[in-house]
Amino acid sequence: MHDATFQTRGGPEDDPRDAAAASSSAPAIPELEAPYPVSSRVRVLIVDEDRTLCKAFAAVLTEEGYHTDSVGSAEEALALLGKAAYDVMLSEICLPGKSGIELMEQVIELYPDLPVILLTGRASVDLAREALHKGASDFVTKPFSQAQLPIVVERNLTRRLVQRKNMLRYRLEIQASNESVLDALLSALDSRDTETQGHSERVTAYTMEIADLLAVSPEHLYHIERGALLHDIGKIGIPDRILLKPGNLTPEEWEEMKRHPVIGYGMCSRIEMLRDASLIVLHHHEAWDGSGYPCSLAGEAIPLGSRIFALADALDAITSNRPYRAAQPFECARQEIVRCSGSQFDPRIVEVFLSVPEARWQRIRSLTAGIPQDTDGPDSM
Ligand SMILES: [Fe+2]
Ligand SMILES: [Fe+2]
Repeated sequence: MHDATFQTRGGPEDDPRDAAAASSSAPAIPELEAPYPVSSRVRVLIVDEDRTLCKAFAAVLTEEGYHTDSVGSAEEALALLGKAAYDVMLSEICLPGKSGIELMEQVIELYPDLPVILLTGRASVDLAREALHKGASDFVTKPFSQAQLPIVVERNLTRRLVQRKNMLRYRLEIQASNESVLDALLSALDSRDTETQGHSERVTAYTMEIADLLAVSPEHLYHIERGALLHDIGKIGIPDRILLKPGNLTPEEWEEMKRHPVIGYGMCSRIEMLRDASLIVLHHHEAWDGSGYPCSLAGEAIPLGSRIFALADALDAITSNRPYRAAQPFECARQEIVRCSGSQFDPRIVEVFLSVPEARWQRIRSLTAGIPQDTDGPDSM
């Protein structure tokens, strides 16, 4: 077996993805750097009914510091994969029962991140093409030099690492571009209504405090945060003569102003990453008893994020300066929120609000200091 022909799909030096990654000027992602030399933490599963060969493979890999387990069939391999995590699977194509290719297809389905290296003694271009097309990470023909085995394993670990890094980098890029969209929307709103920014930041901070106490999932928190930040984005579509009017609005002007949640929903729901947040925008002026707008939703039919936001919005409105009155103390806001529990606000959310000491709300407000103490638009409470 020693010094026999050794064939694979190609090394790192001729894999264009690896070469591209190596020359990439993008910043390194430290948490995904590989520990070199490969440590004994790397676990290799060997699947071959030839026990002698399994033992030989295991001996070579163990010598190099890998942990190995060997089984003789696809069924045994699947059972073992269900019990322990592996970094690489080496499988002969010819197995009793399910073939190595069938095993690989199932493994890719269950563990898409696990590199599968297929071994065969009856190599053909068609077979190699089929294996690689179906997702084999590598294809090795037997016999081959056992000394090369750790290199094959190492190459596939490196390839997996590069793929993970590329995927993480891609996600980070998507996230950065999502944040740019958010910034663009918020600055568009600022350009129409310069007094809104401080309000949006404070209301978002209050909203997140309550959402956190309600043990909302991280994913839901993300959407709630964006919904709160963008709640008044629809004001972009309200004419200046109404939005910037210094005096009281006429009933007709109020009707026009009350369109801003629907306008905001129309804007946000077209952007994939804001789809969930758009519902919070749409319903941010609904009331628990159904007396709000635009849909007159009541109770739990109102999205949780909008129910939390409604209370946070009231807290900020009462404790902020208005053209017609000075900011009220937190105690006033507390009394007003308690008075409106069950009518304007979800009583459960009021309870959570009351469980937070006033000092905490003051602290959150002070964290937004530097953002101008503003007056909100005439749609606020
Ligand atoms: Fe609003
Ligand atoms: Fe607002």
